[in-house]
Amino acid sequence: MKKSHAENDVGPWAKQKLGALESYLEAYHKVMAKQKFELIYIDAFAGPGRSRIRASGQVDAELDLFLDAEQKAASREFIAGSPVVALRTGRGFDRYYFFDNDPGRVKLLEKIKEEHSNKVVHVICMDANSGVQKLARKIDEHHLVRAVAFLDPYGPNLHWKTVQSLAETRKVDVIINFPLAMAINRLVTKSPNIRENWVELLDKCFGSHDWHDLAYEVKGDMFGHERSQKRERTDMRLLHYYHRRLEGAFGHTVAPSLVKNTKRAPLYYLLWASSNPRGKPIADHIMKFGVRIGSKGRKERRQPSLFSSSSR
Ligand SMILES: C[S@@+](CC[C@H](N)C(=O)[O-])C[C@H]1O[C@@H](n2cnc3c(N)ncnc32)[C@H](O)[C@@H]1O
Repeated sequence: MKKSHAENDVGPWAKQKLGALESYLEAYHKVMAKQKFELIYIDAFAGPGRSRIRASGQVDAELDLFLDAEQKAASREFIAGSPVVALRTGRGFDRYYFFDNDPGRVKLLEKIKEEHSNKVVHVICMDANSGVQKLARKIDEHHLVRAVAFLDPYGPNLHWKTVQSLAETRKVDVIINFPLAMAINRLVTKSPNIRENWVELLDKCFGSHDWHDLAYEVKGDMFGHERSQKRERTDMRLLHYYHRRLEGAFGHTVAPSLVKNTKRAPLYYLLWASSNPRGKPIADHIMKFGVRIGSKGRKERRQPSLFSSSSR
């Protein structure tokens, strides 16, 4: 069930993602300071603008026993969500576009817009895919525009077509939350009989049906019957496929960075891509906070080395 905008709690790992975004934007502004581009920030799945950090389960249980409601509320930390991070970082962008399809969250974003009345902020309540594709067409028409797009869905809601529309402008750097473990790999069920609407979601997310053959193989059993079954390390195959597509579309990527939850279970991967190689060392640096997949630095053990920092 979709969370209500009133209860926007996030796990402590959200700090990593937002820290990476902030560091990237800071460096981006420094690089762009001497250039005459109009700078745009796009937050496709903007959220409410501020979120509460959830305490871990154990701490929460203890708090429940010993604290009254007010103390409990005070024990939770609020953090700025990605729209606020973008508004406060560096010299700022010339224009901001915040998309969210939840009217409650959009109301909260409107408040944030009021708090930043000196900035040009567009808060748009609509499906991010149609909104961003439309915006990409506009960006494409303007020679002196550059943009950063933060694409941070909960599930497989970011369509490949949207990513591709940004790549085609050759003016946009993207930071993508690819929710492989927390959403995508769960839709790719053990049995190949996936629900029809999930297949549709995955087709849109990957921009083709190729994910299916990457995820399932046909094997004969001891009685000579052929059965389709989920392959080993499907998650890594799908990540590799998506990352390769990003590289093909944009030209430059860095090794994905894995974000885990407090129990060290994988959640999602942060991916960066751009058609400009200049952002690459910065992206490489900020991605170091997570477990790098196939990079020269810290490596996830037992992972096939599928990835490397890459450019065309
Ligand atoms: C992970 S949250 C975003 C968190 C935010 N980026 C932050 O760091 O503070 C994802 C948001 O996407 C919104 N959302 C989900 N599907 C969407 C869609 N198709 N179009 C626009 N927004 C969508 C949800 O309402 C939710 O607020």
